[in-house]
Amino acid sequence: MTRSIRKAVFPVAGLGTRFLPATKAVPKELLPVLDKPLIQYAVEEACDAGIETIILVTRGDKQAISQHFARDDALEAFLEQKGSKAVLERVRAILPSGIEVLEATQEQPLGLGHAVLCASKLVGNEPFAVILPDDMIRSDGPGALRQMVDIYEQCGHSVVAVEQIPIEDASRYGVAAVEENSRGLLEIQTVVEKPAPEDAPSNLGVVGRYVLSGEIFELLRHLGTGAGGEIQLTDGIARLMDIDTVLAHPFEGQRFDCGSRFGLVQATLEYAMADDELAAQIETFLAARTRT
Ligand code: G1P
Repeated sequence: MTRSIRKAVFPVAGLGTRFLPATKAVPKELLPVLDKPLIQYAVEEACDAGIETIILVTRGDKQAISQHFARDDALEAFLEQKGSKAVLERVRAILPSGIEVLEATQEQPLGLGHAVLCASKLVGNEPFAVILPDDMIRSDGPGALRQMVDIYEQCGHSVVAVEQIPIEDASRYGVAAVEENSRGLLEIQTVVEKPAPEDAPSNLGVVGRYVLSGEIFELLRHLGTGAGGEIQLTDGIARLMDIDTVLAHPFEGQRFDCGSRFGLVQATLEYAMADDELAAQIETFLAARTRT
């Protein structure tokens, strides 16, 4: 029987070097887009997809992220006393009730595949989701992970998010070649981590959303190092394809690469322009700026 997806793994042990010095003391997943940190958007997307257990894979010294999701009675009492009802609601809504947050430690930075493997005990032998919080996906309809869980529930195969990328950027992505099956779903034929543009099997880049069979853990455990000398999740997925069909999902939504400075600025602008008050302020500001 096809089971639904209850757990999501969030690899958050990276050093965030591209954002130093901002990320010296603050994990990059806590960088904000407007007034919410990246990790909160990712957790909201997971909850929207029916996830009940959030598994943070941290370096062990990154309690700031767990703290963000922990109740803060003193802060809540203060806001209540001040009568700041709206803010209090926003603080309480950080983690919807019934959602648990667990933590696994990745002692050494050995790659994304290794980070996911570090969550294996907490996931157990069941299908699960992986979300990379710095790939932010804005969607007006169902979130990207919801779309993927729906596909999993229909067909029982692992699903990887993809989008078209400029071929010259292939070496920043996992790249997948696909074939459409009779049901209109895209079956992955090959997937390669960070190929040179001339070796890329297509222009479909893997984006940080995955719904994976629990079988991947055993495959990751026996995987050697791949691109960049790291244990790559993409290589584990390539092995999974020997056992079962793996689907690619060109999700609906706008993706921002918030692991880059420009991506974070784009996301911030896009969310700001969707807010009536901020949009008006930005337009006035930009109009005045071009006049000077
Ligand atoms: C990771 C994955 C890669 C994927 C990318 C999406 O790479 O290894 O396959 O395309 O995320 O953001 P990273 O960005 O961690 O180097």
